[in-house]
Amino acid sequence: MSQSLQKVLVTGGAGYIGSHVIYALQKTRRYKVISVDNGHNSHSNALSKVSALSRSELPADASQRDIETTEIESYKCDLTRRDEIRAVFEKYGKGGIWGVVHIAAYKAVGESVEIPLAYYENNVAATLYLLQTMQEYDCTRIVYSSSATVYGIPPTIPIPETTRLKADSPYGKTKVMSETMLDDLCHSDPKWSAISLRYFNPAGAHPSGQIGEHPKGRPGNLLPLLAHMAIGRVDPKTLQVFGNDYPTPDGTCVRDYLHISDLASGHLLALEALAPNSKIFESTPDARYKAYNLGQGKGISVLQIIEAMRKATGFDFKYEIVGRRRGDVPDLTADPALAEKELGFKANEDLAIMCRDLWNFQSKNPEGYGKFD
Ligand SMILES: NC(=O)c1ccc[n+]([C@@H]2O[C@H](COP(=O)([O-])OP(=O)(O)OC[C@H]3O[C@@H](n4cnc5c(N)ncnc54)[C@H](O)[C@@H]3O)[C@@H](O)[C@H]2O)c1
Repeated sequence: MSQSLQKVLVTGGAGYIGSHVIYALQKTRRYKVISVDNGHNSHSNALSKVSALSRSELPADASQRDIETTEIESYKCDLTRRDEIRAVFEKYGKGGIWGVVHIAAYKAVGESVEIPLAYYENNVAATLYLLQTMQEYDCTRIVYSSSATVYGIPPTIPIPETTRLKADSPYGKTKVMSETMLDDLCHSDPKWSAISLRYFNPAGAHPSGQIGEHPKGRPGNLLPLLAHMAIGRVDPKTLQVFGNDYPTPDGTCVRDYLHISDLASGHLLALEALAPNSKIFESTPDARYKAYNLGQGKGISVLQIIEAMRKATGFDFKYEIVGRRRGDVPDLTADPALAEKELGFKANEDLAIMCRDLWNFQSKNPEGYGKFD
């Protein structure tokens, strides 16, 4: 008799990172994915695109079990509503869900300064409700989407995980608080195991051009912004570079970019590392909790990004240098050694591939997944 599929619940499954993580989970043919998303920043077509892509890769004689791995059980659920989360867990019963990948959150640093309480509610309270519900339903494994913003202005570059957490923005603080909850929970109860993944700058799209990023409104991140300018959705005359007097090689801010497919593969490795016989917690006998940087370990400046996108798109971006933006940090480059050593994670794809795949998605889907409903 074939083994039944492990059920993994992905929060924020219809968003940019969530959709690529679901695809990566499906590709293993070992998991049955349950997605919860409230549609705050996701398009209703996203999940059907992911399933279609996964199905298209099945062999003609695929087993019923393999076909099942390409289906997503999707729920419109707001994680700030305890009753809505409970209703999802109740469907599967105690022990019915093997583990959770908690990706859903608000993510705009600037916005978090304007409306901090909304960020604390959506990113911290929702995480608390999720953990309480997981506890109630004997689901005690979680991979958590954290961020390099937890480091604030780091004292050393590249940044190791041992760096003190000192986020500057409310957004960054919501990530520190959520990580702290996980750490405390794992210390309180050996049944729990948790991994926080501190993403640096995920970029690109699946190489097929069938799934990618479809942000609502003007993209907040540089690469999707440039793609939207090149495709004509955002006025290219509005391209501004915030500061060219930072202590970096060309004076503009430096970030560590990694391909979205590499980032997604990090989630698989982390999920596997939550298994009972995992070796990674041997170095932390007091609690099954770990945090890892997911980055390439390579700093890339704003001007280098613009040049790479010019090469990928053929679009001649003109930009205006303006003053520094409040809250920007000169350099956020990961030390990715721990994730490589303990999880076997490596971000292999370079910037040219990230830009190629981003542009492939954007040019094949000029309207993204279509207008938001
Ligand atoms: N994209 C990045 O550059 C980046 C970098 C570091 C960390 N992160 C983290 O990764 C995660 C995902 O980022 P993303 O780029 O995929 O963002 P995204 O906005 O595309 O995806 C987040 C998803 O969560 C959903 N969501 C938000 N609040 C919800 C709620 N209360 N209930 C249910 N669903 C909810 C949204 O509708 C969306 O589909 C976030 O936690 C973010 O903080 C992202």
